[in-house]
Amino acid sequence: MQTVDRVDGAAVSPASTFTRLGVIGCGLMGSGIAEVAARAGLDVAVREVDRSALSAGRSRLVASLDRGVRGGKLSEAERDTVLGRLTFTTEIDAFGDRDVVVEAVAENEQVKSEIFAALDKVVSRPDAIFASNTSSIPIMKLGMATSRPEQVVGIHFFNPVPVQKLVEIVPSLLTSAETVNAAQGFVTERLGKEVIRSQDRAGFVVNALLVPYLLAAVRMLESGFAAADDIDRGMVLGCAHPMGPLRLSDLIGLDTIKAVAESLYEEFKEPLYSPPPLLMRMVDAGLLGKKSGRGFHNYAA
Ligand code: CAA
Repeated sequence: MQTVDRVDGAAVSPASTFTRLGVIGCGLMGSGIAEVAARAGLDVAVREVDRSALSAGRSRLVASLDRGVRGGKLSEAERDTVLGRLTFTTEIDAFGDRDVVVEAVAENEQVKSEIFAALDKVVSRPDAIFASNTSSIPIMKLGMATSRPEQVVGIHFFNPVPVQKLVEIVPSLLTSAETVNAAQGFVTERLGKEVIRSQDRAGFVVNALLVPYLLAAVRMLESGFAAADDIDRGMVLGCAHPMGPLRLSDLIGLDTIKAVAESLYEEFKEPLYSPPPLLMRMVDAGLLGKKSGRGFHNYAA
């Protein structure tokens, strides 16, 4: 890890100077990232496109903190302190003073590129980190939307963010070693996560392995090979997975799985990556999994 000289001569990690985080998008992943960072003591600004999305994102985050209170992991006073570290906004201009920004909006390359271009204009810190939580869009493309591609890196979290320890660090061909080291320091020292590194290839390490498995489960259901409950129970009881592949797909969101599958297929042209028709139709129908109340399983209750 590179170090920065302090005036008194001592060396500090650049990660310790990253105290102000911006999170773009307060959906499943963005709210989890914001929560973890605020619980770690950071000043966190969260941006959503409009007031209604912002209010839904804030409620999601508060619900997760309340779950921590109910589970005895934090007191009500601690929850309020964490909430006090969070600012909710619809303005990207509010991100001018951020040290690190993590973009966590839906998997749409054009939308993400526009966000990176806008951030490039407003963030003033010369060595700020511009990160994307994308699971499927090349980091290179997002870097090229800015004038500082050497400062753009993938910082990919896992759902639920407060629970899963892993973060994938994904440099593009143009990301500098300083940015990669600083991003890794930020994630491990400030957020307490574990990291692995991946090249900038569709799916990175984990989704390139996980998504074909999830798609295989959808095909198994689609072909009538086995029922959803049996597929899920099979992997939970037979392989000690915490949840079966269809329930996990519901947790991740079927729209996200479809986007990752399309990007894997686009990149490698392997049939096992192509999204099966059942998955496509469910996404068209708005059956997105847990977040919409119904996917392969029902969550209405
Ligand atoms: N937020 C915060 N904490 C949560 C949580 C949430 N949304 N969901 C669960 N937890 C915590 C609970 O508080 C509980 O903590 P304690 O044990 O300390 O009390 C713990 O997690 C277990 O929760 P539950 O007992 O309620 O439920 P569970 O045992 O069924 O676990 C699970 C739920 C954590 C989701 C577990 O089933 C699991 O780990 N599943 C696999 C998830 C996975 O594979 N995620 C990766 C998806 S891939 C991805 O995200 C990348 C991508 O780009 C698509």
